[in-house]
Formats: sequence, structure tokens, C-alpha cells
Amino acid sequence: MKKFLDLISAEVASAFEACGYEASYGKTGISNRPDLCEYQCNGAMAAKKKYQKAPIVIANEVVEKLMANMETAREQGMTPVFDSVEAVNPGFINLKVSGDYLAGYLKEMAADENLSVEKAAQPKTIIIDYGGANVAKPLHVGHLRSAIIGESIKRICRFAGHQVIGDVHLGDWGLQMGLIITEVRHRNPDLPYFDESFEGEYPQEAPFTISELEEIYPTASAKSKEDESYREEALEATAKLQEGVRGYHALWQHILNVSIADLKKNYGNLNVEFDLWKKESDAQPYIPDMAEMMKKEGYAYEDQGALIVDVKEESDTKEVPPCIILKSDGAALYTTTDLATIIDRVKNYDPDEIIYVVDKRQEMHFTQVFRCARKTKLVKEDMDLKFLGFGTMNGKDGKPFKTREGGVMRLERLISEINEEMYNKIMENHEADPEEARRTAKLVGLSAIKYGDLSNQASKDYVFDVDKFTSFEGNTGPYILYTMVRIKSILAKYRANTAAGENAEILTPAGESEKALMLELTKFNSVIEQAEEELAPHKICSFIYDLSNALNRFYHETKILSHEDAAQQAGWIALLTLTLRVLETGIELLGFEAPERM
Ligand code: ARG
Repeated sequence: MKKFLDLISAEVASAFEACGYEASYGKTGISNRPDLCEYQCNGAMAAKKKYQKAPIVIANEVVEKLMANMETAREQGMTPVFDSVEAVNPGFINLKVSGDYLAGYLKEMAADENLSVEKAAQPKTIIIDYGGANVAKPLHVGHLRSAIIGESIKRICRFAGHQVIGDVHLGDWGLQMGLIITEVRHRNPDLPYFDESFEGEYPQEAPFTISELEEIYPTASAKSKEDESYREEALEATAKLQEGVRGYHALWQHILNVSIADLKKNYGNLNVEFDLWKKESDAQPYIPDMAEMMKKEGYAYEDQGALIVDVKEESDTKEVPPCIILKSDGAALYTTTDLATIIDRVKNYDPDEIIYVVDKRQEMHFTQVFRCARKTKLVKEDMDLKFLGFGTMNGKDGKPFKTREGGVMRLERLISEINEEMYNKIMENHEADPEEARRTAKLVGLSAIKYGDLSNQASKDYVFDVDKFTSFEGNTGPYILYTMVRIKSILAKYRANTAAGENAEILTPAGESEKALMLELTKFNSVIEQAEEELAPHKICSFIYDLSNALNRFYHETKILSHEDAAQQAGWIALLTLTLRVLETGIELLGFEAPERM
């Protein structure tokens, strides 16, 4: 469906044209003085110079033409676009849309399964690299943003009609693996994994549980910082693993299995789902050939034993260091892995675009990787590589979010604290079945966390304020859900008492708050388009917030269920139904759901 604002602009543009002016002057926007009008065109002022006429004269001509159009439409039994048009000094054209026209647009929107959003004419294949958890390290809030934002971007691009593949790209190949192996060895030197002469089958069962594993890594990491020989051992273990030593490989496989099972559970609790569970290690097989190619084609050269590719450009205002492909000891780095991963992705999925949702502090890394990938022709010229860098999630003190005791906040703990808070609120509000309240608290808690994050522009740091985010009032997830539950309850009551009305259509608005709600709904397709183009879930947040406010205002001013005119009532029910569908789609794109009651 066409965008509502485009339809309005087209109507004004054709009036400009009919009066002998260029149509482009008819571009119309939403009014910034809603007390005066709904839409506003400032084209007459812009046309002044070209036509050497006072803007008010131009505006008056156009307004006259628009009025004539309205008259003709009425005579022909058609719906005029506007109710009122007015030229105002020095040359504004103020417009109010006709209620019938508005209702007609919403009827069409309600009949459209995509709620007026047009699918991409040329669907792209997009890979989204997000999540980025590191195996065997507990998920902490730092990984939360990538998961939340990436999941939403994935859903938005999919809804816009693209083929989207989400890849978690687990970190499973660095020193952390060597550290864990080393610590396991210190604790259990007799395990067969460390016996180089062992030729039998290794045990099926992992020699640790997830909670042991989560304790092993920090212990090993701390030891390596104090004890140089321990660190040496860990480096050696890492090298052995990467060389493919059998026992180390088997142990690493156990680490992966235990850790991934736990990650799946955690991401599941966040409503975050990946299509691919690929890992850094999956890119390793591509590295030798890649390095060889870069050398052979003359892109890479040796510098103090290391293999590097220059990626600086003349226009750089800050230093962009060269990409190190292989260290002097032949080891691969984070950059190497990311380049090899691109090869893997191109080969297996031939994407038009890869979007990386990663902490913005890694921006330089991605600048290097993208430039190197282009220079060495790992990607087609028209393939897009996008970095969506996000800011830090801070506590109220403005420092990175911590537990009350000052430790690193684990994701599981954060979620359970929020759920507890929500549970208490729900039980305080009204008497509820404790089990249902638990389920509801989980849904509402997730909305608090996700909306709290997504309502900010991703690149900005933000303060994770539990009290604010869990509030049922203001610009929060729970407020949106509360609004939706309110609509659900009206619809349920209506349906319980009225058999008819299911197929009722949206009517011409009877009052101001109703019209405001309807005008808000017309923005949906353009909001989705912007959110997709700019990779900006926060645009959806501000839209559903405005829509919820408009709905609540209408609700407070209207006696819907006790209204005596059944047709009017049915029309309102149709309007509420559409509003609910739009809100449902909105939160679905953000990655959370609404309960039936709360
Ligand atoms: N594992 C990395 C980290 O924790 C994030 C991975 C981001 N994705 C990528 N392709 N480099 O910092």
C-alpha cells in the first residue's frame, strides 16, 4: 500500500501542477502545529524565488484548486482527500484530512495481511552477525545488547521481505580455550585427554558441568595474570588445540557441547533465535589458502615476520593500522578469523549484505576487516558490509552495569531480578494466581529489558534503570503491554456480549481523539520502512509509544462498551482490533510478546 503521507503529498502536488507550478513544491509533511492542522505544505515559500511571486499568492491559488477538487469529488460521490485547506501568511498551506478518506485508508490497511507494509521488490539475502557470545564464559550484560538489537534487526528485515540469516558467531578459538584446558589439566592430570599415547575412545560424558565450567574460566584467567608459567602453558595448549592434537580437540568438543546447550537455554529465555550456530573455529580451514592468495596476489607482505595488508586510505583522519593476517609465529588473529568467516559466508550463502551487531568499541577492527575484504576481493563490489556498533549499558552511576555488590552482572541473574520485581508488582496490583503471575512476570520482564534497550538509538550508551524500565507508566515496555492488555480485555468483553460485529469496518471518526488515533495508525508502513533502512528499532519504539498514548486518550474519552449505537460500537471495535494488530506486530519486531492479562 502507498504511504498515507505520499498520497496526501500527491494530491497537493497535483494542485501545484494544475496551477502551473512544479509538482515537487507540493511535498507535504506532518504538521508541527497539531493545534492548527494535521498536515502542512511549505512549498509556496520555496517556490517564491523561481516564480517571482509572493508565497501567499501561490498558496491561495493552490488552496483554491484543492477546494475545487474537494467539491468535484463530492459531486461525483467520491471521497475528498481533505476536509479543510487553508492558506496562512506568509504562505503556509494548512490541511486537515477528511474522516472518510482516513477511514478508507485504514479499512484497506485492516484488510491487508501485512498491515499496509509492502514487501521489498528485490529481496536481499542478508546475514546478521549478532550475539557473539564466547564459549565457556558466562553470558553477561555486554552480550545482551547484541542479542536484543540483532534479533530485532533480523525480524524487521524479514518483515520487510528480505531473506535473513542470523548467525551467533561464537567465540571458541582464542586463548580462553587454552586457559580452560590448562585448568582442567591441573585439576585432573590423569584424564585421558592429556595422555598423548592414549588411542582409545574418549568418554562421552564431559569432565565438567556448566557451573564448573563457568567457574573454571575466571579461575584460569586470574591465575594466568599472576603466573607467567601458567600463561605459557595456556598459550601452548591453545596452539596444540589449533594444531588439532586429538585429546585437546576432544576436550574442546566437550566444552562446546556443554556451553552451547547452556547458551541455547539463555538465548531462548530472551526470545532470541539463531539460524546458524557457527563458530570462529568454523572459519579456520579457510585461513591457509586465504593467506596464500593474499600473498600471491600481492595484497599482503611480510613485515618483521608477520603477514600484513595495508588498509589505510588517504582521506583517513585517524590512523588505520594495517591488518595483521598472520603473526610472526604463524598464529591467526581475530581479524584473520573475521576475514575467513566472510569467505565461508560468501561461499555458502552468497549474501548481498552482512550486518555486524557488535559493541561500538570494535569499530576500528571492522573498518580494517571491511577494507581488507574489499581490497583483497573476498567480496563482490556491490556487497554491503555494515557495522552496527552499539553503546554501553551503564548503571545509574554512569559506569558499566554491575551487580549491587559491584561484580560483573550475569545475564541470568539480571533476568531473574527483573522477573521478581515484575512478579511483586503484579501481585501488589491485584490478586492473581501465583503461577499465572509468574508467567506474566516473565513476559512483562522481558518487555522491560528489551524495550529499555531498543528505545534508545543503538549507538548511544544508555542507563539501565530497573525502576524506570519496569514501570507501567511512561515510555516503557510494560506500558505498551498494559495498553495491549487493555484492548484485549475490551475486545473479550465485547465478544462475550455481542455475537455480531466481527466483520465490522472502521468508520469515519466521530471525535478528535479518535481521529488522532487513526492518523497515528496510518504511519505504520513508513515507520517500518525507516526502521529497516536505518537499522533503527528505536523508531518502532517511539511509534508504538505514540500509538499507545493515542489509544489511551481515545479510551479515556469514549464509552465504548456501554455505547447504545451498535453500529458505532462495532466500528470502534474494528478500530481497536486494528490498533492491537499493529501493536502486536510492533512488539513482535522488537522481540517480545504480550500476556492475556496483567
Ligand atoms: N565474540 C566477540 C566478543 O565477545 C564478538 C563477536 C562479534 N562478531 C564478529 N564477527 N567479530 O567481543
